[in-house]
Amino acid sequence: MANLCIIGTGYVGLVTGACFAKLENNVICVDCDEKKIALLNQGKLPFYEEGLEEVIFEAKANQKIVFSTDLKKAVESSDIVFICVGTPQRPDGSADTSFVLEVADKIGQFQNGPLSVVIKSTAPIEAIEQVKQTISVNSNHPFEIVSNPEFLAQGTAVRDFLKPDRVVIGSKTKEGAESIKNLYTGFDCPIIITDIASAILTKYASNSFLATKISFINEVANLCEKVGANINDVAKGMGLDRRIGPLFLKAGIGFGGSCFPKDSKAMVDMANGAGSDFKILNSVIEVNERQKKVIIDKLKKHLGDLANKKVAFLGVAFKPGTEDTREAPSVIIANKLIEEGCQISAYDPLVKDISLLNGCKVDLASVPYKAIENADAVVVITEYKDFCDLDFSHIKSIMKQPLIIDGRNILDSAQLSKLGFTYEGIGL
Ligand SMILES: NC(=O)c1ccc[n+]([C@@H]2O[C@H](COP(=O)([O-])OP(=O)(O)OC[C@H]3O[C@@H](n4cnc5c(N)ncnc54)[C@H](O)[C@@H]3O)[C@@H](O)[C@H]2O)c1
Repeated sequence: MANLCIIGTGYVGLVTGACFAKLENNVICVDCDEKKIALLNQGKLPFYEEGLEEVIFEAKANQKIVFSTDLKKAVESSDIVFICVGTPQRPDGSADTSFVLEVADKIGQFQNGPLSVVIKSTAPIEAIEQVKQTISVNSNHPFEIVSNPEFLAQGTAVRDFLKPDRVVIGSKTKEGAESIKNLYTGFDCPIIITDIASAILTKYASNSFLATKISFINEVANLCEKVGANINDVAKGMGLDRRIGPLFLKAGIGFGGSCFPKDSKAMVDMANGAGSDFKILNSVIEVNERQKKVIIDKLKKHLGDLANKKVAFLGVAFKPGTEDTREAPSVIIANKLIEEGCQISAYDPLVKDISLLNGCKVDLASVPYKAIENADAVVVITEYKDFCDLDFSHIKSIMKQPLIIDGRNILDSAQLSKLGFTYEGIGL
C-alpha cells in the first residue's frame, strides 16, 4: 500500500483519490480551493458524481483519505504524487499547462526524498519535460516522471476508474512504470506500459476518435434529412457491425464538456506544432460547432422570427449524470437564441445553480413543467431517459405552441404527433 498525494480535487482528482483510498492506499487529497476542501471536510461533495459519496464516506471511516490545502505536508509525507489539475483551452486552442507547472514548482520546493510524480491531467508531450525542469529548479532529490492518463467519463467516473477498459502508463524507466503499475494490482484489464509520448497520444487520440464518431454520425444525420432517411435506423444498422460498434453513434446537437472540445483542439495544435496537418480533426471540430446551429434553424423554420419567443430547454448539462456545463451545447445555443431576442427557461435534474452557466441568462426552473409553461417550443438538450416519461398531454396544455425539437432523438415521435405536437428530431 502506498502513501499518495493527489493534487486537484476535481472530477479526476477526487475520483482517483477516493478509489485509490478504497484500494487501501493512504491518500491525501489537496486543492488550492479552500471552499472545496472545507466542503469535503464537512462530508459534502463539491459536485455530483454517482457512487462517489459512498466511496469517500467508507474511505474516511477507514481513515484512508484526508482533504487538505497544505501541499507541503502532503508532498513531504507521500511516495507518489498525482497531478490532476485542470488543463483548460487557451484562446488559440492549445492546452494551458500553467496549473500543472505551478504545481510542479511547489513539488520541487517541498520534495524531501525520492518521489514519483504522475501526470494524470491531460497535458501535451512537451509539458512532461517542462514539469521535469520545473521540479529540478528547486529539488536535489531523485524523482521519476510518469504519465498515467485518465479515461474516466463524468456520470460513470467511479465505475470507469475501478473497472477501466485499460490502464496506460508512460515512463522513461521500467522502475518508474512498475511503481505505478503496482497501484493497479488486481484490476481486470490490460495495463499498457509505453514511452511517455505514446501514453499521452493514446489519451488525445482516444478522445479525438470518439469526437470523430459523433461528428461523423451528425453529418450522416444531416444527410438523412435531405434524402429522406432515418438516422436511428442507419446508426442501428451501422452499429451492429462489430468493426464499428454502437457507442458514440447517436445523432444530436454535438459534443461538449470539459474534454472532447478542448482535447481535439489541443491535438490539432500539437499536430500543427509538429508540422502535421490533421485534416480530419479540423473537420470534426467545425462540424461540431455547426451542429448547434441546427437547433436554431429548426426553431426558425417553425416559429419564424425568434424575437420575444420563449424556448424551454430540457437539460442543461453536457451529458446526463453531471451538473457540469463546461462547453455545454446548451450554453452556446442559449446565448445564440438570446441574441435573437428569445427568453430561455430550463430544467435540469442536477444543474440547480445559475452560476454554473457562466453568465448565460437562463431561468432555471425546479420542475420541468414550470420551465415549459407558456413556451413556444421545447428543446431536448440532455438525453435524460426521465424526459420520456413526462406528461406530454399536460405539456401541450401549458405551452403557447405545441412544438418540440428533440436534440437527442429520445422522445417517441409517433406518440407526440398523435397528441398534436409538431415534432422534429435530428436526422429523422
Ligand atoms: N473531467 C473529466 O471527465 C476528465 C477525464 C479524463 C481526464 N481529464 C483531465 O484531467 C484534468 C483535470 O480535469 P477535471 O475535470 O478533474 O478538472 P476540474 O477543473 O474539475 O478540477 C481541477 C482541480 O484542480 C484544482 N487546482 C488548480 N490549480 C491547483 C493548484 N495549484 N494546487 C492545487 N489544486 C489546484 C482546482 O481548484 C480544481 O479543484 C484535466 O487535464 C482534464 O482534461 C478530465
